[in-house]
Amino acid sequence: MDGLCMSRRKVAAVALVVLWGLVIHVGEPLDSMGTGSPLWRKTGLIGAPTRAVVCVVAGISLLILGWLHRLLFCPLELLRSPDDVGYIAEDGRSRAQAANEVRRRRKIGELPPIYPNGWYRVMDSHMLQVGEVKNATVLGEQVAVFRGDNGKAYVVDAYCPHLGANLGVGGRVVGDCIECPFHGWQFRGEDGKCVKIPYAEKVPEFAKVRRWTSCDVNGQILVWFHCDGLEPTWNVPEQQEITRGDWVYRGRTEHFINAHIEEIPENAADIAHLAHLHTPGIVSGVDLRYTNSKTWEFIRHDWKVKWEPESDPNSHCSRMLVKHSLTVFGRHWPLMDIDVVARQVGPGVVFLLFEHSFFGKGVIMHCVTPLEPLLQCVSHTIFYQANVPPLVPKFILRAECIQFERDVMIWNNKKYISKPLLVKEDSAIQKHRRWFSQFYSPGSPRLAYQHDTLDF
Ligand code: FES
Ligand SMILES: [Fe+2]
Repeated sequence: MDGLCMSRRKVAAVALVVLWGLVIHVGEPLDSMGTGSPLWRKTGLIGAPTRAVVCVVAGISLLILGWLHRLLFCPLELLRSPDDVGYIAEDGRSRAQAANEVRRRRKIGELPPIYPNGWYRVMDSHMLQVGEVKNATVLGEQVAVFRGDNGKAYVVDAYCPHLGANLGVGGRVVGDCIECPFHGWQFRGEDGKCVKIPYAEKVPEFAKVRRWTSCDVNGQILVWFHCDGLEPTWNVPEQQEITRGDWVYRGRTEHFINAHIEEIPENAADIAHLAHLHTPGIVSGVDLRYTNSKTWEFIRHDWKVKWEPESDPNSHCSRMLVKHSLTVFGRHWPLMDIDVVARQVGPGVVFLLFEHSFFGKGVIMHCVTPLEPLLQCVSHTIFYQANVPPLVPKFILRAECIQFERDVMIWNNKKYISKPLLVKEDSAIQKHRRWFSQFYSPGSPRLAYQHDTLDF
């Protein structure tokens, strides 16, 4: 994933070896006469405090070095659990209790269908090595994702048609097939067909597992969903800089959002909320009770935004053009002027393209994947010019994450309003709803029950 970044275990091992070396080294200092007689022995306990101080200093230095190494070279990985962000835990309740309570008592509203047709991210490509198998949840289904020996990623239904074992939990890759952990049936990734039953003379023609149409592009594995089983009518465009390796992986974030999927892209067309929710400086944090505090008033973000759908043959795409500027104590900081193009491709994928004359270029792949009707997994994966120090994209990703978590607090607690009370200046929201409706078909699944009861 990133050659420069050693795993934490390796860093800890190196640190231990160095520390051990230091202890050995200072453990037997010679006396000043150079007689070769170890000083510890002569001074009895006198050397012990010195040794302890050296050990502590060495330990702290190694920790600082490790932290610096991670900061400067390793990708930023910020993976939030479902109750981490956007809930207010008061009166001695834990965040999990607060989250579950919100989920139980929320008013759901008149929802559009829950799973729009389109491409959805299952995981980042680097999370699946050759020969690896993983279990994932997508659109309320369990899938097994595996990378065959040929390097291709395949996605199939997780439950084995024989007796229902989960192929993604303990399954094994054999060539370009996945082998069930229960009785060893093997299914081909290309079409899901069963090609081997180790104890049977004949493999029935109808023995197969459902294969999902998938692609492995821009460092991500995605699946196509259409409620009527239709094949893709458009593809996820390839970001050439990622394929060529000019832009490299610099980190990712993951959030779980308790809302209908459409609420998330609609944010791009909701221009008025930027001036309210996203204007306070990122230093004021993500808790909306405090973001407008007087302490941080001196730092403000300004946004100039335009949202519009694209025309044929890209009518499944839309664009949000953003001009960001920063003021500190009322003075404009031109260095922080950043232009972003957020190109939405279908309901689940957005390319956030950054371009800055000094800080370089890159993209954040923002993906929304419904796990349950009202539970979305949102990931931000950043790829950035390889010759720009990783600290720059890591800062951009962190800043994006702070702004995003402010939206999460709104989404997690809001109700979907099918007929919102809008003013003229909100007109892009209605335009967005009309544009997004193209991803629903008459057969698109709808929420069948009013209250989901699953606790986090
Ligand atoms: S359940 Fe999969 S082989 Fe038996
Ligand atoms: Fe927002």
